[in-house]
Amino acid sequence: MFTLLASLVLLSGIVLPVAAANPKYVFAHFMAPNAYSYEVSDWQTDISEAQATGIDGFVLNIQTINMAIIEGKIDDAFSVAEPANFYLIPSFDFTDDWAVSDMERIVSDHANSTSAFWYNGGLLVSTYGGDSHNDSYWSGFKSDLLADGIKVTFAPAFTTYRDPSLTGTLLSTYSSLDGFFNWWSWPDDVDANLTTTVDLAYQQAAETRGGPYIMSVSPWQFKELGGTQDWVELSDTLWYYRWLQAIQDVNPDIVEIVTWNDYAESHYIGDINPNVNLGDIAPLYVDGFVHSPWRYVAQYFIPWYRTGQAPPITDDQVIFWYRSHPKDVTCAQGDVPRMSTFPVDAVFALALISDSATVTLDIGSNHYQWDAPAGASMGSVPFPTEHSQIPFIQIITDSGTTSGYGSMYVTQTNCTIYNFNPWVGIIQ
Ligand SMILES: *[C@@H]1O[C@H](CO)[C@@H](O)[C@H](O)[C@H]1NC(C)=O
Ligand SMILES: *[C@@H]1O[C@H](CO)[C@@H](O)[C@H](O)[C@H]1NC(C)=O
Ligand SMILES: *[C@@H]1O[C@H](CO)[C@@H](O)[C@H](O)[C@H]1NC(C)=O
Ligand SMILES: *[C@@H]1O[C@H](CO)[C@@H](O)[C@H](O)[C@H]1NC(C)=O
Repeated sequence: MFTLLASLVLLSGIVLPVAAANPKYVFAHFMAPNAYSYEVSDWQTDISEAQATGIDGFVLNIQTINMAIIEGKIDDAFSVAEPANFYLIPSFDFTDDWAVSDMERIVSDHANSTSAFWYNGGLLVSTYGGDSHNDSYWSGFKSDLLADGIKVTFAPAFTTYRDPSLTGTLLSTYSSLDGFFNWWSWPDDVDANLTTTVDLAYQQAAETRGGPYIMSVSPWQFKELGGTQDWVELSDTLWYYRWLQAIQDVNPDIVEIVTWNDYAESHYIGDINPNVNLGDIAPLYVDGFVHSPWRYVAQYFIPWYRTGQAPPITDDQVIFWYRSHPKDVTCAQGDVPRMSTFPVDAVFALALISDSATVTLDIGSNHYQWDAPAGASMGSVPFPTEHSQIPFIQIITDSGTTSGYGSMYVTQTNCTIYNFNPWVGIIQ
């Protein structure tokens, strides 16, 4: 039925609104421990910025450390989310271990909230990990809550399940699963772009249980906390092609942006909030490395994912990102991260153009330009050999030129820490 309708639309070339079978949702993964020092106003800011981006809710990643304080902050979050019609989903982080009773309390405390998110008649609960526990643990969690009148739809990120050949094992091991969240939204330690093979396998598995299949979409992955915690994954164009994979190849029930505020892994799209204590090391590669303009990219792709139609663009924009040093420079602090040879030394630019434009990228003596068609397209210009340069970007159209500079310098020396976290800017 739907296939036939879709074919007719294609053959006739007429753009008709094709009714989606199910509504599509977009959430952002939110590190609740980073709300430790939050005031109610911090939640108001985050929730209004997320809504302006088109995000339906936060998946609250909850850890056991400072649990009483964080539960109070979660109460605040619900008090802000409810009048805003914003959803909050509990997600238990198994970097810690959890007493089932603590998870049950957190779920039931907010099950009556208008901001609780129900999927297939159950309250959606997710995780980061938790596959260290057997099915009895998870079945018990669900049946205890059911006895309290709360049916749970359980869609965990069981992170050891990444191999597409393990979907049968996943299903036979866990009768408690209703859906699945595939956490893996970066290449797996390889110098290659991510494909959708893992998504499609686990999507099919999740659908046999009714779903949802939750697909993670992330802009970046870099961590420099020392010891074994130093890595970068090839992410140069990920924030562009991963959205297209979600829209064109996978079409998941839910997109989960990873993340809103995980600063230490460099995949935050929220503002850097001075009320968040990032410890001693992460600020060395996070402070000043603004990512907020990445939200404009999400704002463009989210309605496309929801409706299947690329939204019209009214104002031309170029969102661009780049690291502050070439990958080969020697830095004063930290270790060379694993996979450091994979990122390309370049300024990457994503153009969102209403009609057509020439987009130019200049840095030092390097120049690149392309004819950007209506819609989204990408270009890049290699880092120059000259020291201490900033990019200059132009959007040239028949009606005029818009231009501007990046404000983070690319330097060849004076590197304070091995930093592969990009700075993100916008010209509009
Ligand atoms: C939720 O609502 C039900 C039915 O009205 C009620 O029995 C239960 O006590 C409420 N739970 C909480 C935590 O308020
Ligand atoms: C599941 O794990 C619990 C706790 O480790 C254990 O007591 C129980 O026997 C296990 N159940 C099964 C079916 O393996
Ligand atoms: C990844 O994809 C981009 C285009 O989005 C392409 O320019 C680049 O060469 C690809 N990288 C690898 C390692 O294949
Ligand atoms: C490196 O930093 C020092 C101290 O801030 C400064 O004096 C020097 O000019 C810098 N060198 C370069 C090449 O930017």
